[in-house]
Amino acid sequence: MLSVMTTLKTHTCGQLRSEHAGQTVTLAGWVHRRRDHGGLTFIDLRDRWGVTQVVFNPDTSAESHALGRDLRAEYVVRVKGNVRRRPPGLENPSLPTGEIEVVAQEVETLNPAKTPPFYINEDTPVDEALRLRYRYLDLRRQRMQRNIILRHEVIKFIRDFLVQEGFVEVETPILFKSTPEGARDYLVPSRVHPGNFYALPQSPQQLKQLLMVAGYERYFQIARCFRDEDQRGDRQPEFTQLDVEISFVDRDDVMDIIERLYTAIVEQVSDKELLFKPFKRLRYHEAMERFGTDRPDMRFGMELTDISDIAAECDFRVFSETVASGGLVKGFKATGCGGYSRKQIDELNALVREFGAHGLAWLALEGEAEIRSSFAKFLTDEQVQDIVNRLGSKPGDLLLFIADRPEIANESLSRLRLALGERLGLRDSNVLALCWVTDFPFVTWDEEGQRWDPSHHLFTAPMDEDIHLLDADPGRARGKQYDLVCNGYEIAGGSIRIHRRELQEKVFSLIGLTLEEARQQFGHMLEAFEFGTPPHGGIATGIDRWVMLLADEPNIREVIAFPKSQSAADLMADTPSPVSEQQLKELHLKLDL
Ligand code: AMO
Ligand code: AMP
Repeated sequence: MLSVMTTLKTHTCGQLRSEHAGQTVTLAGWVHRRRDHGGLTFIDLRDRWGVTQVVFNPDTSAESHALGRDLRAEYVVRVKGNVRRRPPGLENPSLPTGEIEVVAQEVETLNPAKTPPFYINEDTPVDEALRLRYRYLDLRRQRMQRNIILRHEVIKFIRDFLVQEGFVEVETPILFKSTPEGARDYLVPSRVHPGNFYALPQSPQQLKQLLMVAGYERYFQIARCFRDEDQRGDRQPEFTQLDVEISFVDRDDVMDIIERLYTAIVEQVSDKELLFKPFKRLRYHEAMERFGTDRPDMRFGMELTDISDIAAECDFRVFSETVASGGLVKGFKATGCGGYSRKQIDELNALVREFGAHGLAWLALEGEAEIRSSFAKFLTDEQVQDIVNRLGSKPGDLLLFIADRPEIANESLSRLRLALGERLGLRDSNVLALCWVTDFPFVTWDEEGQRWDPSHHLFTAPMDEDIHLLDADPGRARGKQYDLVCNGYEIAGGSIRIHRRELQEKVFSLIGLTLEEARQQFGHMLEAFEFGTPPHGGIATGIDRWVMLLADEPNIREVIAFPKSQSAADLMADTPSPVSEQQLKELHLKLDL
């Protein structure tokens, strides 16, 4: 067994068993609980490895018994005593150390503690702001210790696995130049170069590509990335990627390594079940058609069905006019919800409005021939039957439809599908449904900026057979991009890169960067591409999101030791915070608030 003996302790609080009975030991840790009982005082002493019961008996040591009575929750104490088997019938089988207790001979308070602002020894709900303010206390709690240690185990596993596969870990700078991944940069002013700034990397993208030019062939890094974007449950301003880049590869090579790694993590580090082995694969268009999103939760069905052709012909104007103006009518069937009341359906209606839809059309199949519906009266019996058949509906189903612009119809249906899946208990958190999404559009049209945006990033290669479309019809070109999705979260993204200067310059110009701007921002990349660049590609996986799923947590803050709040603040250190005039001056900055 692991020995963590130090000057102050001989054993951990998770270590002692009945075979230690009779030994004199010294334990040190935190007072987890104290109980007074029939003249005896008991404390549960806690450290990282577990909890051990300590008994203070006035007959063994009057002095320690007196001291024991003064101990309070979260005091740090050191106890010397004798291990003994607990009296028969008093063992605690739910505790690994439950066969024994330590009879205190000497006790020393190493540090007292104020009453904590929340219970450390119970997993009761606590206001998150309070938890973040006292994060060091929050991190003492069992749930957080479990999460942080799980994260450590996952990262250790990743390192061992990739080293076995011939990868080298290389650190890349934090002070660098803007590496756009679609978010705002965090900037750091330079004292030495007045008016100039470093940008914190949104990812090590450029540097890992340059490492391929440099001949490392198989690179990885557990890399911190910085993105100034709106916070959500699965986003943090700084987060961690497993960043990978490999030379002389095509898409399948990169996907294969990550698939084997992630399968091994699930099977060897977690208690979760993999739904797909090998992982499912979906093309982007198929994902959008069937699930309305490019990160589908594939743990359950309720796939979307397009009824635009039937809707176009019908007399329900919401349907026919939407189709006539280029929109879609799509929906899905919620199995077993045919008996939903008006009130329940109204709630769903309110939900999709929150998601941006204008309404929800529904059709409930109660009995064999009994139909309730918000729109059936506008349709012929045949049209109703066509819809019912197209969705493969059975009595007891509730059919839900949205008519809208394709983006809105898809987005709101995909979110409604998740909400119903949740309600119907179809999203089992013990199951991980991993799925690759490929064949993304190479660029997407940005209405606001009136230009093409890369759908992954600037360095992604188009499919060879679609290169000719870059001039003719860019919106139809596909990129050599792949995303890994799990239970509705995007947990990784990567691509095969452009490794020739001409093609890279062509892409810069397609997305509206002049050659001058491109040289200014990415001159070092373009230049590198002229010195013998191997074909290469890679991927980055979101470690926080992955550990969140493995730990069964609802957001990534639960698996990050010191996360930022929803407003990107550290509530413990109270930062961001003002700096002195002197510091601003040194940095040649003036505030304009
Ligand atoms: P991408 O931008 O897709 O790709 O990021 C890769 C993965 O990182 C995770 N992620 C985040 N996690 C937490 N908070 C955030 N703000 C956040 N943003 C992204 C996601 C995502 O799938 N350089 C490319 C990779 C490559 O092409 O090799 C990149 O960074 O899980
Ligand atoms: P209304 O004519 O607004 O009373 O709508 C009739 C029915 O159509 C109601 O059930 C609405 O929720 C639904 N509805 C309205 N707009 C849409 C839409 N864009 N897509 C689907 N159903 C809609």
